Amino acid sequence: IEQGNLITAGKAKALYETNNPEYIWVHNLDQATALNGKRKEAVADKAYYTNQISRYLFEYLNQKGVPTHYVEALNETDSLVHRLTMLPIEVVTRNYASGHFVSRFDVEPMFPLEPTVLEFYYKSDALDDPFMNDSQILALNLASLESITRIKDLTHQINPLLNQLFDEIGITLVDFKLEFGRNTDDVIVLGDELSPDNMRLVDQTTGDSLDKDVFRQQTGDLTTGYAQVLTRLQAKLGE
Ligand code: C5P
Repeated sequence: IEQGNLITAGKAKALYETNNPEYIWVHNLDQATALNGKRKEAVADKAYYTNQISRYLFEYLNQKGVPTHYVEALNETDSLVHRLTMLPIEVVTRNYASGHFVSRFDVEPMFPLEPTVLEFYYKSDALDDPFMNDSQILALNLASLESITRIKDLTHQINPLLNQLFDEIGITLVDFKLEFGRNTDDVIVLGDELSPDNMRLVDQTTGDSLDKDVFRQQTGDLTTGYAQVLTRLQAKLGE
């Protein structure tokens, strides 16, 4: 497969065409952003960690029968994925209170959430990704009722799988964000990336944050935690 023209460059990744219209070339960037891109810094080796962690998690979900866009790793920082038409919706799952759930509802951090909380956000940098509910999605014609149901079903399938995997490597999955898209057969599958950029992960022994909160709160070097996550996934899932 050959890398083609740049399609778009986001905050953490750049997407390229390939010589096969079915596929997209994902190049991870050595860059971290916070506050919806308002703070941006170069972070050495970050692309390596996000690409490898995403690869392990997508391959794990693929093996468990979850339909995803992931095809294969191309090199240390790049991956091949199926082309999707993305839904402009961010799906956040929360197992424990953290981040905006704590500030919005004034609950104790790490308060266990039962049932698991599922939230939708409208993907728009200009609007700062506003919260939205099912009827807002329908009224704005962003997705059909069937599509919303499918997204919820897939998310409820993915959450226990990821919870169990992380639990087995001594990590608590606090919350995470997913994005879905339609493949060329018009089927909704999991897209985007799965990395500590998009999930909160807490070391069960030390209580340390192993995700982008370290960058958001400027409490240290973000790649220390990312390296921990990758090492443990590698030990658990192998090469
Ligand atoms: O900020 P908030 O508490 O709403 O974030 C919930 C989860 O969703 C976190 O794991 C965060 O990393 C992720 N998220 C994301 N992209 C956004 C907003 C949140 O990956 N635009």
